[in-house]
Amino acid sequence: MAAGNYQADIHNNDYEAEYRAKKLDARGLVNIDGRKLESLNGRWNFAPDLYDSCRRARWWSACQKTEKKAPGMNKPEDWDFEAWETMPVPSCWNMEKNEYLYFEASGIYTRTFNYYAQKKDERAFLFFEGASYAASVFLNGEYLGSHWGASTPFCVEISGSVQEFNRIIVTVDARRSPLRIPTDNTDWFNYGGLYRDVYLLRTGPAFIKDWFIRLVNGVEIRADISIEGGTAGLELEIPELNIREKLPVLDGKASLRLKASPHLWSPENPKLYDFTLKLAEGDAEDDSGGRIKDRIGFREICTRGEEIFLNGKKIFLKGICVHEDHFKLGKTTGEETIRETIRDLRELKGNYLRLAHYPHDRRFSRIASEEGVLLWEEVPVYWAVAFDNSETREDAENQLAELVIRDRNQAGVIIWSVGNENADTDSRLTFMSGLAKKARSLDDSRLISAACLINHEKLMIQDRLGEHLDIIGINEYYGWYDPDFEKLPKILNNSKPGKPVVICEFGAGARLGQRGTVDDLFTEDMQKRIYEQQTETFKTCAYIAGTSPWILYDFRCPRRLNRCQEGFNRKGLIDADRKSRKAAFYVMRKFYEDM
Ligand code: GCU
Repeated sequence: MAAGNYQADIHNNDYEAEYRAKKLDARGLVNIDGRKLESLNGRWNFAPDLYDSCRRARWWSACQKTEKKAPGMNKPEDWDFEAWETMPVPSCWNMEKNEYLYFEASGIYTRTFNYYAQKKDERAFLFFEGASYAASVFLNGEYLGSHWGASTPFCVEISGSVQEFNRIIVTVDARRSPLRIPTDNTDWFNYGGLYRDVYLLRTGPAFIKDWFIRLVNGVEIRADISIEGGTAGLELEIPELNIREKLPVLDGKASLRLKASPHLWSPENPKLYDFTLKLAEGDAEDDSGGRIKDRIGFREICTRGEEIFLNGKKIFLKGICVHEDHFKLGKTTGEETIRETIRDLRELKGNYLRLAHYPHDRRFSRIASEEGVLLWEEVPVYWAVAFDNSETREDAENQLAELVIRDRNQAGVIIWSVGNENADTDSRLTFMSGLAKKARSLDDSRLISAACLINHEKLMIQDRLGEHLDIIGINEYYGWYDPDFEKLPKILNNSKPGKPVVICEFGAGARLGQRGTVDDLFTEDMQKRIYEQQTETFKTCAYIAGTSPWILYDFRCPRRLNRCQEGFNRKGLIDADRKSRKAAFYVMRKFYEDM
């Protein structure tokens, strides 16, 4: 029974319940590849909202119409959208203003836009490529839904709410929590904001929502397509392969199973085929969802024994890890930064990148597929996750589904990783083997892995999750965190993994330009020596099928506070300036070059 003087905006402690009720998640995710999109990027009005007042006091409900506040204002309200500062979308607020560098609360973004339907019965969606961490979306005074997860896309249909003149409000809450994926404790910087692109997407009453096209067992092209709205049928065309199939649609689904022998995609020859998906009633030029034109690569990745095979040929993954972290842009990235990263990988004589520890920008897997780079992609099930918490599990499964749905048509992606460095407990085994199963249910054409830890009591590779993985990832820092390097060869000799192992992290910290002896911490000399020891040892182990040292570039990290780190993790082979190579870079390059 509410008290007689109850006021929701100051007495309702469970105000968030309303915003948990409408989840924007993988079930509603539309695949936007190959479509015409209208950008909503630009400078939005912005205000830091430390007490989450916009949602607590429902400021968002006050803008059903075109409101222009006169100087005298309408009544003593506390919001003033048009008078606020502006913030670029996309951007991380941390990098836009010194006062916001460590801001980890909620930020309010708002802008207006006009909308005129271009077709009869047109449907419209707002599409967000990434908001860190939790976003709630409001349009014209209506709450549309909320999304959790800093690195995966989400969208919401606005057909019923969009008008000629519109005000959109998005609150983005960057607070960390022990119950999230990742938790409140990570080894990277917690950037906040609408840091990736925002689009308006238009479709017809019926449209192609999602598709998954791949080569299975090297001989069969499989396509599974989902369609929203009624349609008479669907056509799939791959002209270069003389494939033009009319597919029946049943309950919004269409599929193809066709024997074919396409030219296989590989790092040496990243062959991509043009394809078209078209609804029977979609006209030839309709790119609002009735017709999709994109490119697809066909390849086969599998393991046999302790080896990895690409298109039937044994491969060694010559890689390195990267964070989505830029000294000027934070977690926001773009085509130039991605291509520069690939150039640096090429200079390292690498063919593979571990995109740590969360889904990177959509463009990374597209550019990697164009350029012939193999990718490990990962969900941030990182360290001490609340494995017993059902909401945490739902969060992890949803972020995994959003990643797989977004990138499973990209030939460069070969591995889905379900997490990093988690203690081998019963609840973690249930949680992460469940994620491995979920990944396989969404994608029957890729390998599943995780970054596991060595059993340092038994000095061997032994992690129960391993039996649910195709590749066992191992993070080890012998020579650095454990100075007794001789343990590594012992461990490798003690272990019988029975499947391929990728050393997905090893390395050491070094401050660029700091020189000394091989025993001096944070010198380039010590880092170089450790790389020499590590790479020499890898050569003696037949079941190591790939390596991705930690890490290509120094990156911002609030836990790293000694005089050589000053808020950066210094294990990069290249300084945070993304230019200056350290001595160990050339050791790693020689290891790959000599293969
Ligand atoms: C761990 C972890 C990384 C971390 C690294 C380090 O292996 O996976 O996220 O940055 O070690 O200690 O530098």
